Amino acid sequence: MDDFLFVLGSNWQLSLAELDNCLKNSEFKGRIKDYSANIAIVEFDNLVKEKYYVNKLMELQFMLGGCQKIGKIYEFINIHTIFNAFPYIIENFKEVEKARIIILKIIDKVLIEIFPKIQNESLFYAVSIYPNLFDDEYYSKILVKHFLPFLNKEIMEILIQKGAQKALYYQYPEKYLKSGNLNPIFPHVVIKYGLLNKDRAEIIFGFTEEGLYIARTFTTDDPNFKRKIDEERPFKEFKSSISPKLALTMLNFLNLFEKRKSKKILDPFVGNGTVLLFALLQDFQVYGSDNNIKKVENSIRNINWLLEELEEPIPLLLNERIKRTDVENLSEFFEPNFFDGICTEPTLGPYYHKQPYYNRVKELIETELEPLYKVTFREAYKILKHNSRICIVAPIFSTMDGGDTQININKIAINYKFKSIPMIDANRIINKSNQKLQFRKQSMRNLIDAKKDQVIKRKIYVFEKKK
Ligand SMILES: C[S@@+](CC[C@H](N)C(=O)[O-])C[C@H]1O[C@@H](n2cnc3c(N)ncnc32)[C@H](O)[C@@H]1O
Repeated sequence: MDDFLFVLGSNWQLSLAELDNCLKNSEFKGRIKDYSANIAIVEFDNLVKEKYYVNKLMELQFMLGGCQKIGKIYEFINIHTIFNAFPYIIENFKEVEKARIIILKIIDKVLIEIFPKIQNESLFYAVSIYPNLFDDEYYSKILVKHFLPFLNKEIMEILIQKGAQKALYYQYPEKYLKSGNLNPIFPHVVIKYGLLNKDRAEIIFGFTEEGLYIARTFTTDDPNFKRKIDEERPFKEFKSSISPKLALTMLNFLNLFEKRKSKKILDPFVGNGTVLLFALLQDFQVYGSDNNIKKVENSIRNINWLLEELEEPIPLLLNERIKRTDVENLSEFFEPNFFDGICTEPTLGPYYHKQPYYNRVKELIETELEPLYKVTFREAYKILKHNSRICIVAPIFSTMDGGDTQININKIAINYKFKSIPMIDANRIINKSNQKLQFRKQSMRNLIDAKKDQVIKRKIYVFEKKK
């Protein structure tokens, strides 16, 4: 099997949409064959034919905002075999035994591929189980409490039986095992334990509605690196900053996958420059503007800091690329049809600690936010190249007395001759029977990035400039 397992970011719909968009439009052509709220199973058109395809996977991992790990899949086990081997209540012992033998035979085969050399080796592995959904009862009651200990023990025995000198496994904290509330190991733990080395492995058991995919982690996100950029830059303001992951994901929705070095990206609400810092990491030519001189200075300082950290030369006239201007005057500062993409988060209004009243939000939208988005689209149209895209965040306010309230961004964008681009292509996504795994019609067009109970949620939109 030449398929790969992608562990998705915490916002799985956004991560899946981002991945699908890359598989459709970038050099990494392929398709998502199956998915859950935690993993995507990917078949590439050509990637595995390349000799150094692992390097390519690393490039893809680096580019994606919503991908925690990528693993190579070795085997698939039908979901009925798993249910037979690990039922809620054991009634038919023979059936259980038979199904467990099938699973063990498959694991035996997989281990030879995961560890090319077993004889006389000291081996270490971590088992990570990704359920269909973390709130599945089957996960907390059966997979964590029975399947995981079974795997840990049986893998160890198979390795010893095959001649390993030592076989040790990663032990999850007892309290999480007991409660059934367990998170598989995070990418930084994969790095810390050297699980990408030859004699060490993270073995992923990833569930979908169809069955269980067994994979070995090949590449992992380096969150320490992203966190360093986010937290150690000279100027930061977490309250108003978008996350590094979201910045990367939004950049990918601009569909600029080739020759990034020559592509010009603008953030007209640059703030402390989060979007630009990650655009720079992705090789783009970065430009920005803000009506607050302090913010202009901060983002220039931050960009200089990042370039020094990366030991890369400072581009000529960098200071000239970050302008102080109100968004309504953008086209006076940048030439017409100049940019290949705009990626931005405008001001989302005041920072509410608790739900505001509906009337207050309505007034904010009508008097401040709508006019701001209108001038943004008006100016964006002038300075973007034809068929180029803008990826933009808009707020959804959860109000005390009027439910969720938002701006009609689609109407504004269409008025300024932009076309709405669906974030996920309905024809490329397979059907799922569990409602929690389905994409609603609305989320095909725009996706939300928010934690539960957040007062201001971010909604992400993509538009393309029409001729
Ligand atoms: C939400 S912050 C952007 C944060 C940025 N995405 C980050 O993560 O650092 C919005 C920025 O827009 C700027 N701004 C607000 N109104 C503006 C306007 N009318 N024209 C230009 N910039 C504006 C503010 O000064 C602020 O720096």
